[in-house]
This record gives sequence, structure tokens and C-alpha cells, in this order.
Amino acid sequence: MSSILDKKKNKDKCQKFTPENIVDEMLDLAGYTHHLSGKKVLENSFGSGNVLVAIVKRYIEDSLNAGIPVSSIAAHLETDIYGVELDKELFRICIERLNEITNEYGIPPVKWLLFNENALTWKCDVTFDFIIGNPPYITYKDIDDDSRRFLKQTFSSCSNGKFDYCYAFIERSVNLLSETGKLVQLVPTNIYKNVFGRNLRSILLPHVDVIKEYPGEKLFVDTLTSSTVFLFDKSTKSPNITYADMTAEKTFVFLRSSLGEKWVFTEKEERKQRTTVRFGDCFNASIVVATLLNEAFLLSTDDVRGKGIEQAVIRRAASPKKMRHKVAEYIIFPYYYEGGIFHRYAKEEFEQQFPNAVAHLNLYKEKLDKRDVDDNIEWFEYGRTQALTRLNQRKLLMSTVLTNHAEVYELEADTIPYSGIFITVKKPEYTLADAERILRDERFVRYVKSIGISVSGNSKRITCKDVNNYMFVRE
Ligand SMILES: C[S@@+](CC[C@H](N)C(=O)[O-])C[C@H]1O[C@@H](n2cnc3c(N)ncnc32)[C@H](O)[C@@H]1O
Repeated sequence: MSSILDKKKNKDKCQKFTPENIVDEMLDLAGYTHHLSGKKVLENSFGSGNVLVAIVKRYIEDSLNAGIPVSSIAAHLETDIYGVELDKELFRICIERLNEITNEYGIPPVKWLLFNENALTWKCDVTFDFIIGNPPYITYKDIDDDSRRFLKQTFSSCSNGKFDYCYAFIERSVNLLSETGKLVQLVPTNIYKNVFGRNLRSILLPHVDVIKEYPGEKLFVDTLTSSTVFLFDKSTKSPNITYADMTAEKTFVFLRSSLGEKWVFTEKEERKQRTTVRFGDCFNASIVVATLLNEAFLLSTDDVRGKGIEQAVIRRAASPKKMRHKVAEYIIFPYYYEGGIFHRYAKEEFEQQFPNAVAHLNLYKEKLDKRDVDDNIEWFEYGRTQALTRLNQRKLLMSTVLTNHAEVYELEADTIPYSGIFITVKKPEYTLADAERILRDERFVRYVKSIGISVSGNSKRITCKDVNNYMFVRE
């Protein structure tokens, strides 16, 4: 079979070597920084060895720091570091450079695991903790017929249309990673948008973790290619991807699920709105009523039966704890709604209309008078006016403390929540069922785990503000 490098033009175009500062950035991004002995690393188009030289230097320094004797380092290099390069001359240059390094450290001669082969047909039965490199980029029109046929048949990233030669390298590398392996590649940015890169993007989508772009910067002398470095981390389960514009020195995080057919990385407001929505823009998460003396206002079923308190001022009460244990509870609600509008009773009016409620509350008169209430509150009213105007509608109640899932209960319009957080619908296109689904979703639990305040063991406390600030993905 002919070689891709038979064409002089291909050789000139694809033999562009990675500058030292970018090599360092790539190794850092991969996490190729410490505890390197025993970790297998591959550079499968190593050229004159810019990436391998840096890998070998880091490997030796790290081994020395770990107290591995110089005499044993050669044996470790012979099992941990792999490389492939098709060009015979570059292969020779790289081996020379690596030998120079080992000589400098007084390391005995190394039988390098370097192969002068086509990396796409290279037989390999190990998997790698790290694969780091800058593969050859060769456009479809410059790929010979034999190679085109082979790539189409062998790699799904090359099965459609006018693929680039680098797609096959990326796919091969993904397939050679260990279960927790990390792949860092320096490639043209058009892999994110090219129509024929669709299959490649679906291979990358599940585990791509970081994307760096260098818009307007020429990383290679004499080329106009716009470059990107990405980290594909097989161990990542994160719903997020970190994006960095290295030229503008700007970084942001976006949802993996927000990437479409073409990968567009913008932090624009419209994109955020299209994909994620602030909970508080669609629902109201509010603090429940605060009587400041629950013992006076809360009633058991027996109280309701035995005390003759007027029905017009009794409502069902709800707290997450009582809901969990299915205990019926009632509350004196010294207010009323007319035409959906909240009203307070004047003192005389309340005392005249509800003598039995007044008799009951009078048992607690001293304590009621001592409460630190809001301004202009009568002795028989709740201590705070919060929540009262919005209560008279169907709502959800949730606990402020979450352990492994959100405890959510649906309440009738006339039920009065006195503990926890209550949620009502704000935007008419949403329903309480939507709110319940969002709050029960494991993404919300993960959010609470990251921002909540630890209370005990695995439990976290959250506030209404936390719930309102939650960004959910619009399904
Ligand atoms: C863009 S250069 C990068 C070299 C090196 N990775 C670096 O970053 O400096 C790509 C290299 O891939 C080599 N190459 C091209 N086709 C190859 C193949 N099928 N197998 C292995 N190496 C290949 C080229 O000879 C060239 O040295």
C-alpha cells in the first residue's frame, strides 16, 4: 500500500511540530505531572519528538523525586513510554534526542518502545493512561485512493464524506485508552464544525472535558490553521464541559447536553436562555409562614373536634416532617381571601366573629405578646407577614434539608405550610408537575450537594434563594 507521505506536499504540510510552550500546556492539561512511573503513555505521530522529549524529561524527574534509582529508570522507560512515527528520518532524530536526555541523567541505554510504522495499522494490545500529541492533518483531497478506502472501512469518523486524516488518529487514540485514560490532542478547530466531522464529534461527546481554542493565534510558523487543544477524559461523568478562549483569556463552563450537530462555544445570553433556565424565573420558591409561636396556632385533630374553634379560621397545616409521617395537622389562620385578594381582620372584628378561637389563643396571650413581630401585627396574628399573599393556591412543599433526594409534597390551595420551602408557579407555561420533576431530578440533588451547607452526615441545608438560583435544562 502506498504511504500517505509519498506525496511531498503531504509531508510538508503535516510535519509541523508542536512548540515547547504548547507541549507543556498539553501535558499539564492531561495531568501528566506526577506519579508517572507505571503509567503508560503514547505519542502516535511523534515527528522529531517535541512531545516525547518533554514526556521523557517529566518522567525521569518524577521518578527521581519518587526515589526510583537511576539504574532502574531505563527499565521503566522501556515499559511505560510508547511512540509511533511513519517518517524514517524523523524517527531516527527522535531516538537521538531521547538518548541525549537519558545520557545527561546517566541512565543506561534504553530499548525504546518506538515504532517506525503507520500508527493507523500498528498492532497494539495494550491500553494507555495517557495519549498526547499532535496528529497529522491532511485534507481529503490530498489523501490517496488506497488510504481513503482503508480509512473509510476502518474508522467510523471517516465513514462519511470528506474527512480529514486526523479524524482517524483521534478515533484510534480513543480506542487505545484505558478505562480512565486521558487523551490530549492539538488539532484544527474545524473538527468542531465541519459537516463531515459529525461522527467524530459523537465519538468525542461523552467524555470531552476541556476545550481550548487559540483564535487569531498562529501556533505553527507558516500555517493559517486555527488550532484547538482538547482533553478527552474517559473517567469524566460531568454534565459540563470547560471552554477556554486562550487568546481572550476567557473561560466558561457549559452543559455537554447543549452541544448540537455543530459545536458552537459561546456564552451569549440567548444560548444560556435557550438551554438552561433559572428556576426562580419560572417558579417562586418562598419561605413558609412564620407564626413565631406554633404551639398557639397549631391544632391536632382532637383540638379541632373538642374546642369548637370556628371552622372559618381553621385550615389544614403542613410541614415536611408531618407529611412524611402522614400526620394530619391544622392551624388557626386568622386571615381571609376575597376574590383571590389577601385580607387581614381588624382586632374587634376578629374577636367578635371568632370567640372560640380567641379563647384558645388567649391561653397563650402572654407568650403571643412577647413575640418579636413585624410592625402593626395584632396579638392574634402570625408574627411575620411573609408568604401570606401568595399562599392561597396549589403549591409544592419541600424540606430545607436534603439527603439523597428532594422531599416534595403537593399541597391544596387552602393548606398552610409552616415549615420548609413552598413553591408556586410563576410563568403560565409551567406547571407544578414541571417543578416537581425538576426538583426530583438527580441534577438538582447534585446542585444541592455542591452549594448546600452541611448539617449532618450526608445532608445539606438549602435556602429559597438557592432553589430560585438553580439553572435547569429546558427539556
Ligand atoms: C503535525 S506532525 C506532529 C509531530 C509531533 N506530534 C509534534 O507534535 O511535534 C505529524 C506527524 O505525523 C507523522 N505521520 C503522518 N502520518 C502518519 C502515520 N500514518 N503514522 C504515524 N505517523 C504519521 C508525520 O510524519 C509527522 O511527523
